[in-house]
Amino acid sequence: MNYGFIGTGGITTAMVTGLCSADSPPETIWVSPRNRQKANRLAADYAAVTVGSSNQAVVDQSDVVVLAILPQHKESVLAPLSFRRDQAVIHLLAGTSIDAVRPLVAPATDIVRAVPPSGLQSPDRCDCAHQDGLAGSHDAPLSRHHGQHATA
Ligand SMILES: NC(=O)c1ccc[n+]([C@@H]2O[C@H](COP(=O)([O-])OP(=O)(O)OC[C@H]3O[C@@H](n4cnc5c(N)ncnc54)[C@H](OP(=O)(O)O)[C@@H]3O)[C@@H](O)[C@H]2O)c1
Repeated sequence: MNYGFIGTGGITTAMVTGLCSADSPPETIWVSPRNRQKANRLAADYAAVTVGSSNQAVVDQSDVVVLAILPQHKESVLAPLSFRRDQAVIHLLAGTSIDAVRPLVAPATDIVRAVPPSGLQSPDRCDCAHQDGLAGSHDAPLSRHHGQHATA
């Protein structure tokens, strides 16, 4: 199971730190090259982390793509990228609906909107209260999402 993060800022740093510190960390996490300093730091700290050569390279390597860019950058960053139908997308963008993201990640349709709580860098807090825009809202930990895809 490969995870890829588009946007390597504060929330990606916290989530990757939490995932890599968990009892069963993901085998592979790709992070986008921007922010370069944060991406390089994560790769230096965790063997599972690789810095992609581009945003597209991160998408190409990933089964689950986490969108962690600022909401106002979504069109300029995502529109040039090619997603696959078999990929799951976790979007973290505040104040942004799943419907606003859907055309930007097509043909991927498995999209979850997540609202990360504070303290994500702690492995036992690396969970997400996330909403499924089609089936109403529910809470589920990111680690459970990871487990589902890891065994799929
Ligand atoms: N932080 C939280 O606790 C939190 C909580 C809930 C939701 N969120 C959501 O998570 C998202 C990220 O928040 P954040 O706090 O992590 O923001 P952030 O620290 O500003 O991270 C955004 C990252 O996107 C990068 N970026 C800019 N242009 C890019 C491009 N063309 N390609 C790839 N990456 C690019 C930025 O790189 P540069 O540094 O080089 O500009 C920056 O590292 C936002 O949508 C926010 O609403 C955050």
